[in-house]
Amino acid sequence: MKREGSGAPALFPPPPGEAVTSLLAWYRANARVLPWRTEITPYRVWVSEIMLQQTRVEAVKPYFQRFLEAFPDIPSLAGAEDVRLLKLWEGLGYYSRARNLKKAACVLTERYGGELPADVAELRKLPGIGSYTAGAIASIAFGIPAPAVDGNVLRVLARLTGCFADVRDPKTRLSAEATALQMCPPETPGDFTQAMIELGALVCVPNRDAKCGECPFRPWCVAARDGLTDRLPVRSANAPRRVEQRTVLLLREGDVYLLRRRPPKGLLAGLYELPNVEGTLDREQAIAFARENGFQPLRTEPLPPAKHIFTHVEWHMTGWSMTGYFADGGEGVSRILARREELSDVYAIPSAFSAYLGEIRAGKA
Ligand code: ADE
Repeated sequence: MKREGSGAPALFPPPPGEAVTSLLAWYRANARVLPWRTEITPYRVWVSEIMLQQTRVEAVKPYFQRFLEAFPDIPSLAGAEDVRLLKLWEGLGYYSRARNLKKAACVLTERYGGELPADVAELRKLPGIGSYTAGAIASIAFGIPAPAVDGNVLRVLARLTGCFADVRDPKTRLSAEATALQMCPPETPGDFTQAMIELGALVCVPNRDAKCGECPFRPWCVAARDGLTDRLPVRSANAPRRVEQRTVLLLREGDVYLLRRRPPKGLLAGLYELPNVEGTLDREQAIAFARENGFQPLRTEPLPPAKHIFTHVEWHMTGWSMTGYFADGGEGVSRILARREELSDVYAIPSAFSAYLGEIRAGKA
């Protein structure tokens, strides 16, 4: 099959229309009941799609409900206090998603009357909205035929059409979007988008676990026909993660702990953290670091090592727990004295520190 106009063979040759009919019938019979599906509004679709990036459906559900209770509409999100917003996001990770939601809500309130625009190109101008999210909002919330191709949909299309192109190559993604748009039925674009997502989540799952016997695309699927399911999609390898040694300090006077605010740019930007520094500090070095942070230790105990994996870096952590008293010095505005309960109720502290926060909760530090 040829791509229209270009003369080059399509990377993902679209299947016949019956395949899409079969997919939609399967979706109507098998779609999960999910909070963002039972009541569809542009705002709910937007928030859910942002939360669902890099996060599993089951993990998102409670966050989605709490977020909508706290910020029921775009103007309330635009006026959100950062501390509250980040606290509601705590545990979901990739906090720039939350910050971009608020930034976009401010733009929408100032320039679009507090509503999301029903237009793919306008949606794409908003912070945090890329090609996939714009297509998902346009198709699901506004019924506009638009492709929404994420990693799961790429897997479905690569297998269905037997495509061996590297799915990390932007050209491959563009080709997949062209095919998804060709397949998208003009009467029900939202159902088509959600059906492709649902198929990738429930049936056309990664590796050898695909449930080809249950698949509505089975009669047209090149990978199932040729036994290629576990070889598709093709994805070039990730760059290896950098390993960083870090030392984390729990500095306590009574039930008050020292926190810091991270700089506004870079890894975990703007979040709160337990004081930490690159390298593996021994007892003497850790005590010196505590003093530089405006803390005079009286007792110092080692804590168990911990590990945290980010996308591009891995932290291998050494911990020290110190009791003593807060002295002058430290790092000015980025230094915060937080009561024990505020560590869980007020400040958003990234899960990289959960092992050490667990020590505090367990009364061991
Ligand atoms: N993953 C991304 N978007 C989704 C949606 N609308 N429903 C379920 N899972 C999803």
